[in-house]
Amino acid sequence: MLTWDDYHSEDTLKPARPAPPPPPVEDIPAATAAPSATVSEAANGPAATSTDLAAAAAQALEQLDVAPGLEELEMGAARVSVDEKAMINARADLNQLVPFKYDWAWQKYLDGCANHWMPQEINMTADVATWKSPDGLSEDERRIVMRSLGYFSTADSLVANNLVLAIYRLITNPECRQYLLRQAFEEAIHTHAYQYCIESLGMDEGAVFNMYREVPSVARKAAWSLSHTHHLSDPTFHTGTPETDQTLLRNLIGFYAVTEGIFFYCGFTQILSMGRRNKMTGVAEQFQYILRDESMHLNFGIDMINQIKLENPHLWTETFQQEVIQMILEGTQLEIEYARDTMPRGVLGMNAGMMEEYLHFIANRRLVQLGLPEQFPGAQNPFPWMSEIMDLRKEKNFFETRVIEYQTGGALNWD
Ligand SMILES: [Fe+2]
Ligand SMILES: [Fe+2]
Repeated sequence: MLTWDDYHSEDTLKPARPAPPPPPVEDIPAATAAPSATVSEAANGPAATSTDLAAAAAQALEQLDVAPGLEELEMGAARVSVDEKAMINARADLNQLVPFKYDWAWQKYLDGCANHWMPQEINMTADVATWKSPDGLSEDERRIVMRSLGYFSTADSLVANNLVLAIYRLITNPECRQYLLRQAFEEAIHTHAYQYCIESLGMDEGAVFNMYREVPSVARKAAWSLSHTHHLSDPTFHTGTPETDQTLLRNLIGFYAVTEGIFFYCGFTQILSMGRRNKMTGVAEQFQYILRDESMHLNFGIDMINQIKLENPHLWTETFQQEVIQMILEGTQLEIEYARDTMPRGVLGMNAGMMEEYLHFIANRRLVQLGLPEQFPGAQNPFPWMSEIMDLRKEKNFFETRVIEYQTGGALNWD
């Protein structure tokens, strides 16, 4: 726990050094005082001194014109009001976080921060022993670990890249962007977690990280996700027409509802089932925390998609709805193929048939969350324990390997 006393005691160790006085502006040499003077130009000159650089900096700031830097804003216009805020195509100033319009987005940002965790906190010793022991795991169990790390080690990079390079600039609401930035960091933590597992177990890193290009059941899922990024990562792409707004919606549905909402579920279920059987508990614990983060990403994405629908009902045409249903069906089929490839036989108390039933159940959930009709009537959940894991609080570890307490909200003690 940090306190302000720590800062004060540190300060007292260092002797106070008075700041040098700024150079008088009239002393600026003619060359650096030219209207186009910049610090970098001064630095390029062989004889640039710190006085020259400070003078150039002072000169450049004096000439700073605020308008070009804030070109989308009307200087002197009224402050942002809630009514001006919108999910897409908003013209309100995106740098003003408040007043909040979408409290759910801000709350999810806070919830994400409260769930913070890091991969190195998890003990991998037992996993290393199991993985290296010739009879620690069956061949089918080893295949599941390899395939899961193969798919996920790159899948979270695809999601992170889509967030940062494709959708961030198109979501025109600061509280949603705040969550997107938190999510982007969580995706980095997830990629870190997979890398940490791969390194701890001493796997062939090249083989694992290239599975998304080399193993068909993995590659087809990655290719499907990537096919929805291409348009948006083109810097000339802009929303603002029904067609381009629908392209953004397709991307959000492709990534939140299908990639994070369907493609993650077979691998998560397999690894968590392994952990429940007391095998590879470190890897399973990493997956447990990732799954909890992912269920928040999914819920945020669904809220975002539904809010865009609410504000732009003209986009949600009958034809578009049919297209979205097809996307969910395509994603479900790819995940079923992945289940068959990773479970050629029954393993860990499950088989490809049970996973197919589970994926039908998941697909129905996604469709209903998007306001669309179920496509697999009567599908049941054969793995009800998965829902329990998603709802777990951070402090209580599912596998009971340890109990930890997180307090990220109040790092400073104000007493
Ligand atoms: Fe992730
Ligand atoms: Fe995610």
